[in-house]
Amino acid sequence: MADRYLSLTGTAPGRFLTRRLGLPQPVRLRRWSAEQPSLQGELLHLTAGKSDLDLAPVLARSGPRPGGEGPHSSDERPVAVVLDATGVRDVDALAEVHAALHPVVRSVAESGRVVVLGAPLDPADHHQAAVQQALEGFVRSLGKEIGRGRTVNLVRLLEAEAAESTLRFLLSPRSAYVSGQVIEVGGHGGSGDGRGSAEPEDPEKPLAGRTALVTGAARGIGEAVAATLARDGALVMCLDVPAAGGDLAAVAERLGGVALPLDITADDAGGRIADALPGGRLDVLVHNAGITRDRRLVNMPAERWSSVLDVNLASVLRTTDALLSAGALRAGGRVVATASIAGIAGNAGQTNYAASKAGVVGLVRSLAPRALSEHGVTVNAVAPGFIETKMTAAVPLFIREAGRRMNSLAQGGLPVDVAETTAWFAHPGSGAVNGQVVRVCGQSLLGA
Ligand SMILES: NC(=O)c1ccc[n+]([C@@H]2O[C@H](COP(=O)([O-])OP(=O)(O)OC[C@H]3O[C@@H](n4cnc5c(N)ncnc54)[C@H](O)[C@@H]3O)[C@@H](O)[C@H]2O)c1
Repeated sequence: MADRYLSLTGTAPGRFLTRRLGLPQPVRLRRWSAEQPSLQGELLHLTAGKSDLDLAPVLARSGPRPGGEGPHSSDERPVAVVLDATGVRDVDALAEVHAALHPVVRSVAESGRVVVLGAPLDPADHHQAAVQQALEGFVRSLGKEIGRGRTVNLVRLLEAEAAESTLRFLLSPRSAYVSGQVIEVGGHGGSGDGRGSAEPEDPEKPLAGRTALVTGAARGIGEAVAATLARDGALVMCLDVPAAGGDLAAVAERLGGVALPLDITADDAGGRIADALPGGRLDVLVHNAGITRDRRLVNMPAERWSSVLDVNLASVLRTTDALLSAGALRAGGRVVATASIAGIAGNAGQTNYAASKAGVVGLVRSLAPRALSEHGVTVNAVAPGFIETKMTAAVPLFIREAGRRMNSLAQGGLPVDVAETTAWFAHPGSGAVNGQVVRVCGQSLLGA
């Protein structure tokens, strides 16, 4: 379902009119394309407090062209600003965050990026913890006021190299709909020590030689995930219910992958997946299949509860356990599950769905450190907000419009936005990204 309002604000008269009326001003976001794979323009590298990070080599490989390390001097608008605030340990140093960004924030180009780097909270130093946590409130607020398709995110890290894949993602058009997020790199046992992290031979095809399985791949977000992982070089096993077999076969054929018609709730689903894998081994497992059966709790029959919990949570637990314990997931492997902002914020009429999606978050937090130390496999989740799919096209017009506009970018996301976030988790260089739940929601007001 096309977003007509976004098309209207893309025209000069439409922009004039909607601005006069004080209406939201979405801009068409710049997304990845083969012709323009990175953000074109200058990257400004600023520092607040005293930092020990050696960022320059990593930023030089991140996409936008590194400019100076001081305040912006040329006439060109920077397309990205990276503020290293890892050394901020007290309230005085926090003023340097204001001093660094206040003069440049207005000049950041449309669809540009602001990335603030912070340090993990120090449990032995409550002053450091206070001001590092302060960065979270700062970033979330700036994300809400910056506008014009620009995003603001916070990355907590210990060393620059382990965060390279994350910075590359956030400083690229691939993260167009990711804003207001806090991402921790190197926490939850994700050390970036080489065990789960490696730079690919071919940066254009980082998943070459790897096998990925995507559940719910016949349409919507799952289809986009399968296509994006195939673009990145993976052999993609596309799984969906047998009833969707026609669409599934078409997707698999288009992507040079393999169709696997199978109901993920079947007791033997894990075993049947393992049998279908080439060589019995898998590198990337994406749990995307999901259903809604909305009703308020007072009107919800047990069947509506159990079917949603079974597809969205129990089958995710079962297949992950089956594939991990069979040793089918290779070291360096990735599990990416699908949560939802409904699982974070709660949503009237969705006690079953929100419970299942909150369950996914719990699974990720608990399993991530063990899966990495015992199997060399990272476990993360995407939490989509309002994404333009058949699922959201069926939502009544008024609620759909509200869902689309109630976020900092004032528009819905596209399936490819969730897919790009999945591809970043799946990247061989993302071994230090573990136990993270990243919302792909344009900084939705729900559960913000
Ligand atoms: N669209 C959104 O705005 C949104 C927001 C938050 C979360 N999500 C989540 O993203 C995921 C994909 O959503 P979507 O909008 O593409 O949904 P969709 O309904 O368009 O696609 C879901 C796919 O999963 C498949 N599926 C359902 N039950 C299955 C089963 N038992 N076994 C195998 N396959 C099964 C369906 O056949 C379908 O092809 C879901 O987990 C959903 O909860 C979507």
